Amino acid sequence: MRVATLFLLGAALVVPIGATRADAPPRQGWGEPLTADELRPFDITVFPDGAKLPPGSGTPTQGEAIYRQRCAWCHGPTGVEGPASRLVGADGFFEWSDPLRAIRIVKNPVLALSMGGQWPYATSVFDYVRRAMPHTAPKSLSNDEVYAVSAYLLHRNGLVGRDEVMDAKSLPLVLMPGAARTVSAWPLEGTGRAPSPTSEKAGSR
Ligand code: HEC
Repeated sequence: MRVATLFLLGAALVVPIGATRADAPPRQGWGEPLTADELRPFDITVFPDGAKLPPGSGTPTQGEAIYRQRCAWCHGPTGVEGPASRLVGADGFFEWSDPLRAIRIVKNPVLALSMGGQWPYATSVFDYVRRAMPHTAPKSLSNDEVYAVSAYLLHRNGLVGRDEVMDAKSLPLVLMPGAARTVSAWPLEGTGRAPSPTSEKAGSR
């Protein structure tokens, strides 16, 4: 009796499931493929050789105004003071002339980092600022504004002239001191710049 009840209960459970399975579509059908237009805003990675840099341009002089308005309240009036990450200084917070430099770095290694001193590629400045800054409104700057403010930061780091135009051609040619202090994930070229996975040379390796 009990066995028969259990059997019936089991059959009642199995039959509907079997029926559902037969009718179910071959795949779960969760989500739907994104269109090229939907993907475009996320397809913004700029490579070290400048591949994928967008059209547009800007100079340090233009960038200074943007920096004052949109960046200085977090990064400091000259990009040094903070409170957010230091952006200017060939060697971060510690000067080479400081006799206690080595001890200070050991005690506080994070403070040795500054974008100007550590980042290997100028193109990364564009990429990062475009995708992440200002911190409160990422992706709110136009490409021209990102070129201009990147140009200003490079100028403040002594890497480009006051009126040098930064665009898709000139930005990848700016050599950063950090290139000599870091190891690239991509094969290094003789110039210290690395080809991107999308460039012809990388493809032929
Ligand atoms: C509301 C504060 C705020 C504003 C405004 C802001 N930033 Fe930042 N920024 C930050 C913080 C916080 C970080 C560190 C983020 C992290 O490490 O995740 C940062 C990091 C950066 C870095 C990377 C530094 C490094 O060494 O890792 C760059 C470059 C940068 N900001 C540029 C800019 C520029 C250019 C602007 C203006 C267009 C700007 N920021 C505006 C807060 C801000």
